[in-house]
Amino acid sequence: MNEVAGGRFITFEGGEGAGKSTQAARLLKRLQAAGIAALATREPGGSPQAEKIRDVLLSGAARPLGPMAEAILFSAARADHLARTIRPALAQAVWVVCDRFADSTRVYQGALGAVAPEIIRALERIVVGPTRPDLTLSLDLPPELGLARASARRAANGEAVDRFEAEALDFHRSLREAYRRIAQAEPERCVLVDAAGEPESVAEVIWTIVIDRLPVARLAAQPKELAHG
Ligand code: TYD
Repeated sequence: MNEVAGGRFITFEGGEGAGKSTQAARLLKRLQAAGIAALATREPGGSPQAEKIRDVLLSGAARPLGPMAEAILFSAARADHLARTIRPALAQAVWVVCDRFADSTRVYQGALGAVAPEIIRALERIVVGPTRPDLTLSLDLPPELGLARASARRAANGEAVDRFEAEALDFHRSLREAYRRIAQAEPERCVLVDAAGEPESVAEVIWTIVIDRLPVARLAAQPKELAHG
């Protein structure tokens, strides 16, 4: 058993095509290989009730209600996710790796949906409270590349691409700027990660950041003789 006390909360953020899910899965494996108990989860979702809210949100059924109502629904899902999954894990010294969290609400409903910052902040204060991430890895991609990856994914699924491209480029630009502003404002929590490279090299960069920001991971990753020597 390693001597890590208390779980750490790591979130992944970024736009479409940035590779969040892939990198979250890789980080989970790496932590586990280092002997750290860890679980991977995602938003919206991550608990049975929050997954139900996810279905409503991603189906587009809530869209007519507008970004403010969506922010409230994402927050309701987050409250349950925190209560049922995240906080119990952290309390048992299990590390939590989460694909999207509160920064997504700041960016999608706040920056892009024009919900007022004070409302977004209030929701965060009520829902997240002190359970802020210890580390947020914000996967950063040039908008053209994010769009190309998203288009390739759509094409592979047989969906039309061209019609939406101009709009999509603006969308990717705004998304990137909004995430960059968050990282700039909270450098103690957020690290921008260049996500343009191959998954392997991005994963290496991420691991370096994790052991730098959360040194306890490095201790756990060392062979026993070194760790105790
Ligand atoms: P998902 O299928 O998980 O896609 P992705 O691979 O982009 O994470 O869809 C999640 C969608 O929900 C994504 O478009 C971002 C959006 N979202 C918000 O708008 N606000 C939020 O608070 C969260 C968590 C997600």
